[in-house]
Order: sequence, then C-alpha cells, then structure tokens
Amino acid sequence: MAGVTLHTRSPLPGAIAARFREEFGGEAPRKFFAPGRINLVGAHLDYNGGDVLPMAVDRGIYVAARLRDDGRIRLVSLDQEGGIDLRTADIGTRARRAWGWAAYPLGIWREFRREIETDKGFEAVYAGDVPMASGMSSSAAIEVATALALDALHDAGLERERLARFAHTAENEFVGVRCGIMDQYASALGLPGHVLWLHCAGPRWEHVPFDPARCEVLVMDTRKPRALADTRFNERVAECAAAHAVLRDRVRDLPHLAAYSEADLEACRDVLDEVLYLRARHVVTEMKRIANGAAALRAGDYRGLGAALDASHRSTATDYAVSCPELDVITDAARACDEVFGARLTGAGFGGCAIALIEPGSSGQVTEHVGRVFHERFGVEPEFDLLHVGDGPGELES
Ligand code: GLA
Repeated sequence: MAGVTLHTRSPLPGAIAARFREEFGGEAPRKFFAPGRINLVGAHLDYNGGDVLPMAVDRGIYVAARLRDDGRIRLVSLDQEGGIDLRTADIGTRARRAWGWAAYPLGIWREFRREIETDKGFEAVYAGDVPMASGMSSSAAIEVATALALDALHDAGLERERLARFAHTAENEFVGVRCGIMDQYASALGLPGHVLWLHCAGPRWEHVPFDPARCEVLVMDTRKPRALADTRFNERVAECAAAHAVLRDRVRDLPHLAAYSEADLEACRDVLDEVLYLRARHVVTEMKRIANGAAALRAGDYRGLGAALDASHRSTATDYAVSCPELDVITDAARACDEVFGARLTGAGFGGCAIALIEPGSSGQVTEHVGRVFHERFGVEPEFDLLHVGDGPGELES
C-alpha cells in the first residue's frame, strides 16, 4: 500500500510503545492506526448487495508491531484481558472461542499467509479509543490495523482494497460472522474529510466530502449490551437469503436482494412468509433512502441527510426488527431537539450506539435533553461522544 503517515495527538501510540518495550524489549516497533466507522445510511444493505454510506471516524485501533523469526505470535491489548502466545502452526482454520479479541489479528495473519510466502510470526500491542462491541466496528479496525502492519512489515505493498478483502474473509471464515464488506472497506478506504459511498455489488466506491463546519456527529451509547448480536445478525442474513430465493424463483433472477424493486416484492407477496416480506421490504426501500441521503450530502443539505437517517431508523425498527426500546427512545429524544438533523442506530443494532447529526456547537443542549429523557425512562445515564471524520488508516510517525 502507498504509505500514509499519520500525525495524532492521541496518547495511545506512546502507551502501546511503552507496553511493547516492557513486554518484548529490543528495537522500537512500528505503529499503525485503523479507524472505526459509523454508517450514515444503508442499514444491513452490504450483505444484500446494496449501497452504504459509512464514515471512517477519528477513533479506532492503534497497534505497535514487529515480526518474529521463531514462528510465534504474541499479542497483548491495553484494553482487553487475555493475551495470546502461540505457534503459527497452531492457528488452524477456525478461531477458538478462548482467543476472544485476538481471533481478529490471527485471522488476518492467516489471510496474509495465504497471500505471501512468509514463515514469520509477529508480536504486537493493541489499544483503542473506539468502544468495543458498541456498533462502531472495533473488530474491523483491529483487522485493518493488523493488515496494514503485516503489509508494511513484510514490505508487501498490497492495495488497501486487498487488505479490506483480507479483513472481510478473516471475519467471515475464521471468526465466523457472516457480515458484509462495509466495516472493513470503510476502515481501509477512509480518506480525510470524506465519507465512503460504497456500492457493495461490484464493489465500487466514491468518496463524498463531509463538512464538519456544517454538521457534527454525536454518538449516543445506550450502554445496552448487544446480547446475541452475532446470532441474530446471522439470522437476518439467512432471512434475506431466503427472501431472495423466493424472488428469484417467482419474479426474476437478479444477483442481490437490494436489486429488486418494490413492485417485484409486491408481485410475490402472497407466497412470501410475512417475516421475509418485511425483511425484504426494508432492503429494497433502504436503497431509496440511501440514494436520497447521498444526494443530500452531495448538495451539502444536512437536514435532507438527517431525514434519510430518521426514515432508515424507522424501517430498521419496524421491518428489520434490529432496534430495541433503548435505541428507539434515544433517537426519538434526539429528534425532539431543533439542533438535530436526524438520528438512527448504527452498526448491526440490537443495542449499543445510535448516532445523531447535529448543528456544530449544539452538543451541550442535545446531550442534556437526551440524557435526561433516557435516564427518566431506563434509570441509566447514556454516554455521549462527539466524533469527527478521521484521516483514514496509515502508519504513525515514529
Ligand atoms: C454490522 C456488519 C456490517 C453491516 C452492519 C449493518 O456492522 O458487520 O457488515 O451489515 O452490521 O448495516
């Protein structure tokens, strides 16, 4: 990959370097960063061959890494329990549950090993400032940060899209989550000041400017754990595949569910199970919402973009059934503020975070109102964070 050097004021590069010295000694490691993401519109469209509009943010995962000659992999995290020390020969083809977060870097190592001749192991220290398991794709950021590191340390010069593919395959095959390509592409292809308009069929993409002087992104963490999110996520993937099979059989043969029209869907309504009908309706109508949202963003119309977020949230709640009372209440409370352009859950849903697009400088008023409403209803203080469009992934200056 063409080397991008990042400058950051985060204390985390210093912290991982210090821990690296303690843990492994020797020469100073190289350090890399890959961003987390929020998705503006296009919920659950990536694995249905639709479009998505993710933003790589200014938070993510930092890694300090170095190759090893003894065929071992040793991984430590500043945030998570359970380091790893194993032989590359023992990695196998599927992650073990006991490996926890370390399954992601191990999956990347495995993809790398399939691509280039190497008998080296590696050692690494990770730290992040994107909350784990909250819907902001910390797992894709761990994967992409590891892929950047292995690419640079082997001097392999792979394209960023290639690294995104590694990350996606690692997550699907090695970790076993049947996610689409959005998170890994959003992290690997992030560019300063832009969001990614990713057409997952293809894939093709373009970068669309996002103006931080006109709109800020407030992340609202419900602190509701995303219980069974992987299982329920895989269930939605299976439901969409089943709906697609009926449409293909009864209406016409298109490669992805997102490619069908509402008229196609109505044409086979009587043979579609009600749940499958609702899932498919979300997918085909979300394509319109993302087209509207992307057009609004292009025109600098952040209220128009916000309206697409609101409509997307409603459909994910009613038709796709991935919301929950906490996410509904927190987004409704945000929408009640004049300074909010729109709000929706982010990531897979089932708990975790929502986002609100807000007028710059208004986060104080908005968090005050939303925090009060949410606390009255659930007795829990949500957490808030103001995010910015980031600089994308890269190596950190040494
Ligand atoms: C998760 C998955 C993504 C995407 C979103 C829903 O974040 O990892 O691939 O499907 O959910 O839009």
